[in-house]
Amino acid sequence: MSVVWQIHIFVSLVCYVDDRVSRVAWLNRSNIIFAGRDKWSLDPRVELVTKGQLEYSLRIQKVDVYDEGQYTCSIQTKEHSRTSQVFLIVQVPANIYKVSEDITINEGSNVTLTCLASGRPDPMITWRLLNPSGKT
Ligand SMILES: *[C@@H]1O[C@H](CO)[C@@H](O)[C@H](O)[C@H]1NC(C)=O
Ligand SMILES: *[C@@H]1O[C@H](CO)[C@@H](O)[C@H](O)[C@H]1NC(C)=O
Repeated sequence: MSVVWQIHIFVSLVCYVDDRVSRVAWLNRSNIIFAGRDKWSLDPRVELVTKGQLEYSLRIQKVDVYDEGQYTCSIQTKEHSRTSQVFLIVQVPANIYKVSEDITINEGSNVTLTCLASGRPDPMITWRLLNPSGKT
């Protein structure tokens, strides 16, 4: 299962448990975020969402790109243990952070127009000539 979410919104990673469960935990890669109701993570953006005995979900606010990765809900009953993995993919809206300024140059010379953009997945950059006045 994977969850795709955009930056700056919260995401809930849902985990259902049943009442025979004796131990539950949420892990981020190999770090324990919550063990039962005890918060091990120091990150103020993460909290537990529980509904009675049945839901044991993790909520992350203001998701950022560093949160991307595998999360594990680990459940242990007296007889066996089980884990559910969720892969969180964080998308970042495309943004142009640098573009060439207006420029005047002489015919026959070379010019480089720069456009630098960020985003996840990597944005595709295209150039278009809007008012063609030159002849080919
Ligand atoms: C998950 O782990 C990464 C690296 O260990 C960390 O940067 C990120 O803040 C963690 N995210 C949460 C929600 O704990
Ligand atoms: C323009 O670029 C070409 C190819 O890189 C080069 O051969 C040429 O000398 C350049 N012309 C000028 C005026 O810089």
